[in-house]
Amino acid sequence: MEDIEDNWTDDIPNSEFQGKILIFIIFAAGIGGTFQYGYSLSTINAPTTYIQTFINETWLERWGTPLESNLILIIWSFIVSIYSLGGLLGALIAGPMAVQFGRKKSLLVNNVFIIISASLVIMSKEAQSFEMIMISRLFGGINAGVGMNIQPMYLGESAPMKLRGAAALSSAPFAALGILLGQIIGLREILGSEASWPFLLSSNVIPALLQLATLPWLPESPRYLLIDKGDKHSCRKALQMLRGTNDIDKEMEEMQQEQAAITVERAKRPWELFRDRTVRYQLITVIVISSAMQLCGNDSMYFYASYVFQEAGIPSDKIQYYILITGGCELLMAVTANLFIERLGRRLLMLLGYTMMTVWAVIFTVALSLQDKVSWMPYMSMVCIFAYILSFGIGPAGVTGILPTEIFDQAARPAAYMISGSLIWSMLFVIGMGFPFIVGGLGVFCYVPFGIVCILAAVFVAFFLPETKGKSLLEISQEYNELNFKGKKSQNTHYQLGEMSISTKL
Ligand SMILES: *[C@@H]1O[C@H](CO)[C@@H](O)[C@H](O)[C@H]1NC(C)=O
Repeated sequence: MEDIEDNWTDDIPNSEFQGKILIFIIFAAGIGGTFQYGYSLSTINAPTTYIQTFINETWLERWGTPLESNLILIIWSFIVSIYSLGGLLGALIAGPMAVQFGRKKSLLVNNVFIIISASLVIMSKEAQSFEMIMISRLFGGINAGVGMNIQPMYLGESAPMKLRGAAALSSAPFAALGILLGQIIGLREILGSEASWPFLLSSNVIPALLQLATLPWLPESPRYLLIDKGDKHSCRKALQMLRGTNDIDKEMEEMQQEQAAITVERAKRPWELFRDRTVRYQLITVIVISSAMQLCGNDSMYFYASYVFQEAGIPSDKIQYYILITGGCELLMAVTANLFIERLGRRLLMLLGYTMMTVWAVIFTVALSLQDKVSWMPYMSMVCIFAYILSFGIGPAGVTGILPTEIFDQAARPAAYMISGSLIWSMLFVIGMGFPFIVGGLGVFCYVPFGIVCILAAVFVAFFLPETKGKSLLEISQEYNELNFKGKKSQNTHYQLGEMSISTKL
């Protein structure tokens, strides 16, 4: 604790300017990054029945017969979930993009996908083609997949070490902001009416244009410039701009140490990580934590919320306002977690988040199963929904995205994000398609599997996740090496290099 206080006072002369440029970067990257993910996730809910009617009418127009309601549902679920397939695709191309174009330029190029997506959906009604909505969602997903991976990489690499977590974690508040704003714009009074759904679904072009207007003026990630490109001059310029001071030699030196410790010339490929003993536990961590983020059922809460609110006796025309509270909860918690992450650390937030989610899943299950017998139980279920989403916001929502930045080195980082992103998106697809069947099969016990995932995640974090707060990458890989080479005196060069750099520091 004392340590942190010292660091704060050390930096006061230039911290004001440093904060400013970093805040611009956080905003410019955020509005075109995870904001888009949250926004698409929530805007698709409002026009559900209108688009189903549209599918039916289009079919009737084309083939002269109306569509069976089952088939309408299947086409509709496909429109919803093709977004995750796009996300998966985006996660796969994000790694090569980040290496090829750099972090900043990739985020800029990424807006092309949104522009294609918005153009398709706005024309779909006129063109009487629901296929165009599908393709639009696919492109929207690609954008989110790319943004979700590159945004934390860009921010984590640009921030000074003691703000690295908070900067990269800003992905989560922007996703939450997107969810909430999407819910607001999707209200019937705004763009949620039958006539305006093409405008609602194409309104994501506005944040894309905002990003295109702001991000070009900000510097590229200095670590990318130095370690990937070997461009010392540009790196120095970017760092000076970011830190608002010329006193950056210490940080440059630390980066050069990392560059020296990287034994391969080029960025690693995902499959190479699976064969590399030195990153075994880092890889296991990313796999477990990324899968748990979706399998914990947080997003299903959003789908389930309207049913629970209805059971609690809220009139159906008022439900849309209560749904806003769910988005508000996630935003509130994501911002709070951001304020505390550099003090409390990543490990504690994750542990707290998953433990509390387990507890709420249990109470939710009890409340759901007693709701016909005890009159106030439906309100308890409502409380559980808010509490579950709040607990998710404490840790899992944000920390999951920053871990690959913190535990993998520059050469392995894009590949690690590819693996993490693929898992997050495939699991979102699995949950999106599977949740209706889980509800059908388990009824009021539908949150039991999610509770089990939460407790397993909490146990994993407790035993295997080292704290990464305020540590340099070499120190973190040192800690992981104790897991990777448990009890072995290793001949591994990477390990020795890590040890060497630590000892030169002392
Ligand atoms: C589809 O359209 C037909 C004809 O207008 C209508 O009878 C039917 O109820 C519609 N089905 C659904 C699920 O809306």
